[in-house]
Amino acid sequence: MTATISLLSEPSDADLDALGALLVDVVEGGASVGFLLPLPREEARAWWRETLPDPWTQTWVARDGGGAVVGTVRLSRASKANSRHRGEVSKLMVARRARRQGLASRLMETAERAAFDEHAMRLVLLDTETDSPAQPFYLERGWSVVGVIADYAATPYGDPAATTIMELRRSQP
Ligand SMILES: CC(C)(COP(=O)(O)OP(=O)(O)OC[C@H]1O[C@@H](n2cnc3c(N)ncnc32)[C@H](O)[C@@H]1OP(=O)(O)O)[C@@H](O)C(=O)NCCC(=O)NCCS
Repeated sequence: MTATISLLSEPSDADLDALGALLVDVVEGGASVGFLLPLPREEARAWWRETLPDPWTQTWVARDGGGAVVGTVRLSRASKANSRHRGEVSKLMVARRARRQGLASRLMETAERAAFDEHAMRLVLLDTETDSPAQPFYLERGWSVVGVIADYAATPYGDPAATTIMELRRSQP
């Protein structure tokens, strides 16, 4: 798939619709990204509409050749004065129809480059459901496991599940 990745600055109504649909697709696929099933499309869309205008968070989208949103990743900078070297990656999501084509790798490259090169961060964190398919993906990219928290969040089906906290560091030049 020929996909392009870009920073989302002014989301259109169509973008919000597509982001809502992507979130529903991913949650219906069983991914633990903060939501329970059933997830109405309108609720997913409203979540994006409410959280996108965050000055500390950048959101990138991957679009297929027709312009449809098929993936996202977010990078949040810590706002506290003593934590500006730190950030957090979240909402790495690829539509089920667009998986295993390298999109998540490209999205993570984009977020990691922004973290270390643009914002001069030295530490980036993320959390993922323990033993999810995403965990080996992050390990392969050089992320390390910080620890595991039992019963941290529920799966989309409402069952308690462990969460793995992961980190990626870059020493200062
Ligand atoms: C995890 C996810 C983002 C991967 O997206 P993707 O675009 O398919 O990933 P890529 O094509 O870039 O995969 C790169 C490599 O990661 C590994 N990988 C990706 N998905 C995998 C899976 N389901 N099982 C095992 N390994 C996987 C493989 O090594 C893959 O390389 P390969 O295809 O050459 O074997 C996607 O499956 C997804 O959106 N899942 C639901 C949401 C989610 O769990 N997000 C993470 C929240 S922390």
